[in-house]
Order: sequence, then structure tokens, then C-alpha cells
Amino acid sequence: MDDTKNIKEHTEIIGASNIIGLLLETQQDALSEIERAEKNENDLRLELLGGKSDLALLAKKIKNVPQADRAQVGTVINQVKQTIESALSSLKARESVATGAKTDFDVTMPGILPPEGHLHIVSQAISEITHIFEKIGFSRVRHPEVDWDWFAFESLNMPANHPARDEWETFFIDYPGRPGHDPHKQRMALTPHTSNGQVREMGKKVLPIRMINIAKCYRRQSDVSHVPMFHQFEGMYIDKNVSIGHLKGFINFFIKQYFGPDRKFRLRPFHFQFTEPSFEVDISCDVCKGRGCRLCKEGWLELAGSGMIHPNVLRNGGIDPNQYNGFAIGWGVERTYMMKAGTRLDDIRLLYSNDIRFLEQF
Ligand code: PHE
Repeated sequence: MDDTKNIKEHTEIIGASNIIGLLLETQQDALSEIERAEKNENDLRLELLGGKSDLALLAKKIKNVPQADRAQVGTVINQVKQTIESALSSLKARESVATGAKTDFDVTMPGILPPEGHLHIVSQAISEITHIFEKIGFSRVRHPEVDWDWFAFESLNMPANHPARDEWETFFIDYPGRPGHDPHKQRMALTPHTSNGQVREMGKKVLPIRMINIAKCYRRQSDVSHVPMFHQFEGMYIDKNVSIGHLKGFINFFIKQYFGPDRKFRLRPFHFQFTEPSFEVDISCDVCKGRGCRLCKEGWLELAGSGMIHPNVLRNGGIDPNQYNGFAIGWGVERTYMMKAGTRLDDIRLLYSNDIRFLEQF
């Protein structure tokens, strides 16, 4: 500012209006410089208000102003100072927002992720099971989970009052209205197993059959290895010349795919009214590695019931047992999942406790 330099060298009396003009010019220059913000607030403060600033030099010249005008000039000096001061504070505020990282808001910090859910572990198991069987040409079908006694029992070679029914601890339900004359539509139950899908699937009259029926099942039971509502998947294969070898191959394929190549299983002779011969399938327990624990008791856990479909059942489904035969197998989904390597679940009821801390782990 050349004028200021002139004043600096000048020692004679200066008119009030001169110095006020210079002060206002200084203010104008200072405001434009703050507006451009090419330097930071600290440096600008030193340059515009410091001891060597134009404003400071001009202020010193007040002694050259005639006595009578000094008060007026003094007021202008203060006003200019305040104006520059407030422009500098708003620059400082802008700086602290822009470089928030250095103050209280770190823009580089990762945000808080909203909680994200996932499928329930039983749903995960169902889709995994479905995919495994798709590889060997078995398709998932759905059949009712509340069904006629005919499909749940009678068609499976278990007439009313047959003692074998006791095994299924069934919840029968009231049917609204009175049953009609159709002998297949007399009583209803919450399906105690997925075997109700056997005769229903045969009824579609498409052969051969490669079915996986996955559905909810209900029984009056609750302890470490039972819950009143659980899931089963029913595999059924009907074709010409089906043998127990096919059944074993089917079980072996699933066990190896789902549990890994080292897992052991065994077929134990059993009795079901709807298969002949019948077997239960046991798998070596993963919780205790076969040593015996509160879940499996003796190192093996029963996973499935199976067998070669009884000729009466084929007949009830409209299939000629002299031409076709097949196998059927019903597995518990929850137990199958619990026996997967590493889950270490020793109480089936945990799956339905709805405790988010438990479910989040899977
Ligand atoms: N439905 C039987 C059960 O729930 C299992 C089974 C299915 C047995 C198919 C034989 C054939 O125990």
C-alpha cells in the first residue's frame, strides 16, 4: 500500500478525512483478501491485524491528526478493526468445517452399519439340502402341512386304531363342519411326518418319481432332541427295478455331500408299516465325536427312517407294485443340521428359542 508508506515517511499534520479514506481502503483490501482465503486464518490475522499491518501503521498516525479530529478517527480505526476481526472469525469457522478431521468430526471414519439379518439356520439348511438333491435329479415339492388322516396314516398301511400310530404322537384337529362320505376325508391332523407326501405325489401319475418333500411336522414331544414343530425332508424314488442298493447310494451321496467324506453312517433294521424292509439311519455324532453325550447317548444319532415302499402303499397311490417299486426315506432337518461338522449344538430347542445372540452366530 503505497499511500501508507507515504504516511509512514510523512511526519506533518494529516487531515482526518485523508486518514479515514485510507482506513476504509485498508478495510476493503483486507475483506477481499479474507474472501479469497488464499492463506489460512492465522496468517491472515497476523498480516491484517498484527503490529506490522497497514491498519497498525495507520493507527500510529493518529498523533499527526489534529487534536479535535482524533476521537472521530479513533472510532473509525476501532470499527475497521472489528469488521476485519469478524470476517476473520467467519473464515475460521469455515476452515474448521472443511478440515473437520482435525476437530470433532472425522469424515474418514467408517459409518455405523445398520443391523443386517440373515435366513434362519433351518431355512439355510433347507436350501442346502434342496441343492444337494437337485444334483442327482430330485426336485423339491410341497405337500400340505395340515392333511387328511388318509394321507398321514391310512394310505401308509396304518388303518384307524393301528398301534403303530402311537409312535407319531399326533395333534389331530377339529375339522369345521361334519365329515362327508368320502372315506379319504374323515379326520385331519397337523402332519406328524412328511410321509403324507408319498401317496399325494404318486397321485400326480407321473413316473418315475424323484421327490424331495420338505415340510413342517408336528408331534407332542419336547426335550433335547425333540421340538413339537420341526422339519423333515422326505426322499422318494419310484421306478422299475429299484433296489436297496439305490437307497444306500442315495443316503451315501447325501451324507458325503452334506457332512463331508469322513462321516460314518449305519443302517439299522427297523419296522415301519409303510416300508418293507425298513431301516433307521444313524450318523456318528459330531458333538461328542462318537464317545456318547447327552444328545446322542451312545455315539450315534438317529437321523432318518427309510425302507422299500410297501406294495399296499403303491397300490393306494394307484401304482402297480408288480411293475414299479421304490424307496422312501424321511429325515429330520434340525437334527441333520445339528450333526453338521462344527455346529456343536446339543439341544434342538435352541434353534427355536428366538434368541438373537444365538442365531447371529450362524
Ligand atoms: N415317516 C417316518 C418317520 O417320521 C420316516 C420314514 C419315511 C420311514 C419314509 C420310512 C420311509 O419316522
